[in-house]
Amino acid sequence: MPFTTPYDPEWDPLLQAAWQAWERAYAPYSHFHVGAALACRDGSLHVGCNVENASYGGTICAERTAICAGVARGMRPNELIALVVVTEAPSLTPPCGMCRQVIAEFAEDLPILLANRHERSLHSIAGLLPHAFTGRNLLNTD
Ligand code: THU
Repeated sequence: MPFTTPYDPEWDPLLQAAWQAWERAYAPYSHFHVGAALACRDGSLHVGCNVENASYGGTICAERTAICAGVARGMRPNELIALVVVTEAPSLTPPCGMCRQVIAEFAEDLPILLANRHERSLHSIAGLLPHAFTGRNLLNTD
């Protein structure tokens, strides 16, 4: 099974893509660059980086720009199979709460690899956002 351990070679193209996006982060205020890359069942790969704004609340995280990029290219819920988030921060950077909610919109469960230049840690959206509020709650189909 791919993406089940942090050093599975399946992560390599995603890590490479995430670091390329990391270089393109627009973070003139925090100088905190974040790169993200997600893989879909059909083999497509979508990347994102954080895009900051002088009106700080307008900032968009790397994870959400990756999902938006995927959707704009046709990605739909339950097509995601893996997500990588990279920073150069010494402690690995987990997705913020808003990103967890957006990820949960598109994947009931999803392996999420957090990485910096030295270490990796494998998580899942179900573990990072247990008891998520989703469309099921709105549609009452539980
Ligand atoms: N950031 C992300 O891109 N992803 C996260 O999950 C955490 C935070 C960005 C937003 C902002 O540009 C910078 O990191 C500092 O918060």
